[in-house]
Amino acid sequence: MLQDSLGRRFYYLRLSVTDVCNFRCSYCLPNGYQGKPEDSFLSLSELEAASRGFAAMGTQKIRLTGGEPSLRPDIDDIITRLSHIDGIDQLAMTTNGYKLHKRAADWARAGLKQLNVSIDSLDTEEFHRITGHDRLNEIMAGLTVAQNSGLKVKVNAVLMRGVNDNLTPVFQWLKTNPLTMRFIEVMETSDQQVFFRQYHQRGETIRSRLLAEGWLPVIRGVAAGPAQEFYHPDYAGRIGLIMPYSKDFCASCNRLRISSLGKLHLCLFAEQGIDIRPYLQTGVATEELVKVVSEHLASKEVGHHLKDHNSGAMANLSQIGG
Ligand code: GTP
Ligand code: 5AD
Ligand code: SF4
Repeated sequence: MLQDSLGRRFYYLRLSVTDVCNFRCSYCLPNGYQGKPEDSFLSLSELEAASRGFAAMGTQKIRLTGGEPSLRPDIDDIITRLSHIDGIDQLAMTTNGYKLHKRAADWARAGLKQLNVSIDSLDTEEFHRITGHDRLNEIMAGLTVAQNSGLKVKVNAVLMRGVNDNLTPVFQWLKTNPLTMRFIEVMETSDQQVFFRQYHQRGETIRSRLLAEGWLPVIRGVAAGPAQEFYHPDYAGRIGLIMPYSKDFCASCNRLRISSLGKLHLCLFAEQGIDIRPYLQTGVATEELVKVVSEHLASKEVGHHLKDHNSGAMANLSQIGG
């Protein structure tokens, strides 16, 4: 198992398969990204080589991210191939939900186990304002298809002050719906510094309200990542908080990342990443990848640099997959 100098163990790999996205989320890609002819995202065989290599290093969970991963024409093949790799027992994907209602059942059949869906507001008009798309009803129907197909489903909402921080509709929804709704503190990137200052809301405000209203923290397992989760005896669903600006967030870091162009990132906001694409080619032995990853891991820092407003490092989260 990959382990860093602080004893953190990395059993979880986030694998970005494309930068292309058809949504225009205000905090991420307000103009969307249609792709350019010169884009050369990792091929199916490179994704498979990376996954095999990481499985050999103890990775048990892979999450496909993007951009929007479902826009890859070969997404079903990617799921099928990766889900058959020995050692990978949790294959997950994070999606904007655009293709959910039509495709979720196929993805589950192909071997996907978990799906995180971004739904920043449960209000149709607000959702449209945030994402530039009017598809909330379709996505909500897709959630049911995904749940009925046996996928473990979580919903992500990027928390924005005065926009989606009213919890009343969320409480109502979770009363009978057995899924986890997670609020993510918006992270500053170089594309949206003004937006960040205007809308960043501390997840702590939600946490205080949850505790005051009888929500209880879920006891964390050893392999749990930085998200905190809460349950309530009167609710079927759970609420999660992802608070990267909180103290000790990185202490439970359990993941590494590979960008759509084949760079290994030890953190979302700390270093530039190293190119591992040369080690994902036919004929290159897995041992070479293992060696380069293990050596690079020694340089993983204690935490991210988000508080330094370092954001020049990253324009948005689409290339590295969040
Ligand atoms: P689970 O596998 O269900 O725990 O999901 P996850 O939280 O790992 O993945 P998801 O793709 O749903 O990510 C949710 C949000 O958490 C995204 O905004 C990510 O950018 C953010 N996030 C995930 N990992 C990290 C991290 O290591 N650091 C920071 N700062 N944010 C992260
Ligand atoms: N801050 C916080 N979350 C973000 N996401 C994209 N950009 C940001 C940001 N700047 C979220 C998406 C999706 C997840 C993969 O990352 O909404 O849920
Ligand atoms: Fe696309 Fe995801 Fe970024 Fe929204 S957050 S623009 S869905 S990549």
